[in-house]
Amino acid sequence: MNKYKDEFDKDFLWGGAIAANQAEGAWDENGKGLDLASCFPKGLHHKFRGRPNEEEYYYPQKEAIDFYHRYKEDVKLFAEMGFKCFRTSIAWTRIFPKGDELEPNEKGLQFYDDLFDELLKYNIQPLVTISHYEMPVHLVEKYGSWLNRDLIVFFERFCNVIFNRYKDKVKYWITFNEINNMRRNADYAAGVIFDENESKKSRQTKIYQAAHNMFVASAKANKMCHEIIDDAIIGCMLSLSNIYPANCDPVAVFETMDIRRKSLFYSDVMIRGEYPNYIFRLWKENGVEVKMEEEDLEIIKNYPSEYLAFSYYRTSIHEAGVPSFFDTGGEYSKQNPYLKVSDWGWQIDPMGFRYTLNELWDRYQVPIFPVENGLGANDELVNGTVEDDYRVEYLKDHLKALKEAIKDGCNIMGYLYWGPIDIVSAGTGEMKKRYGFIYVDKDNLGNGTLKRYKKKSFDYYKEVIATNGKNI
Ligand code: BG6
Repeated sequence: MNKYKDEFDKDFLWGGAIAANQAEGAWDENGKGLDLASCFPKGLHHKFRGRPNEEEYYYPQKEAIDFYHRYKEDVKLFAEMGFKCFRTSIAWTRIFPKGDELEPNEKGLQFYDDLFDELLKYNIQPLVTISHYEMPVHLVEKYGSWLNRDLIVFFERFCNVIFNRYKDKVKYWITFNEINNMRRNADYAAGVIFDENESKKSRQTKIYQAAHNMFVASAKANKMCHEIIDDAIIGCMLSLSNIYPANCDPVAVFETMDIRRKSLFYSDVMIRGEYPNYIFRLWKENGVEVKMEEEDLEIIKNYPSEYLAFSYYRTSIHEAGVPSFFDTGGEYSKQNPYLKVSDWGWQIDPMGFRYTLNELWDRYQVPIFPVENGLGANDELVNGTVEDDYRVEYLKDHLKALKEAIKDGCNIMGYLYWGPIDIVSAGTGEMKKRYGFIYVDKDNLGNGTLKRYKKKSFDYYKEVIATNGKNI
């Protein structure tokens, strides 16, 4: 039997992805509660400093690009590009403002009904991230976030409401955005806050305890999703920009594999349905003890994620013994002399994309879905447009790599470009770090008309989709 494929499937899911907190704004409108992401000031995005202190800081997510009021105009532009799929998250705080209420907020539910209807009007399939860095801040303050098993119950309640409400509108689901980022960025990714001088042992224990509770919550959501929605598919999502050894020093090679494995640990559990052996050594050597209830492992085993969604932006290199750093693009340490960098210092590596797609398909043998890939750049609006040839080049090279991965035999569900419209950066809180095919007139301090303009890349992506990837 010959399974060789050299083109995109007819139902390949072309499109784009955003998150509620980075786009919607309207942070307290129609009963919405305060979410975690709205508490992160511009430029200080990786540290939770409590509730907003407007006198000292500027909080870009509060208005963002006002997608909440302008979504019809934006969806129309996505439709013009020919999107088949659009990923966004449901802000938990629109539905349960504090997170622990018994009854949902009807006005919040109505907003997503309207948004999904608008997408479906153009035959764009919504893909929903249930939690994208934006949990109710009340759950962090009162319960200590995912360290507390009560969160599993609140999350189940949230899922139950949205699965029932949107069962005829949403088929594609993801439980947690970039769950593996909690390993290095527990504030943002899981609402787990450390004391200034907290020991490594205690930090590690908290991270793995919170992760365990999230694995259970995710598996329960997987189960419930299928009980409520017949043809649903629900996956996990990780940040999987890649890392290479800087040279052939066997120590660098092993350490690089180990860094990667600490990230893949999350999909190892969520897709394979059990804790991998290597983690027990790490726990033992770091004094980590994770509390589990009897039925947890059974739930994790019986209700794994059905597909692996992931973000890929760049690669980095690792030299033996040199500690790596971390941001929204994943691990990084040294520059790779073979690669160019973006305006934000991220190394552009299309071959790394093909490598990663192959790595993930080979490891898991479940459908894989790059749901974030794109170029954040310093765009300049001139005469109502942006000549972003650099973005076209980035996209073209990554799509060629994607096609190669299809020829390599990878089972790929679709491709979602990150930030098809300019939104607030998750890593820095800047507007200036623009990914969009659509420019939004707003600057780093919140000035601007919010008017939308098409960039040159808009037409390029439109042509790619119209030809189903024949004209890359
Ligand atoms: C991913 C996140 O980490 O990368 C997004 O899921 C984020 O929320 C994206 O926006 C790009 O990162 P940044 O920092 O450039 O916005």
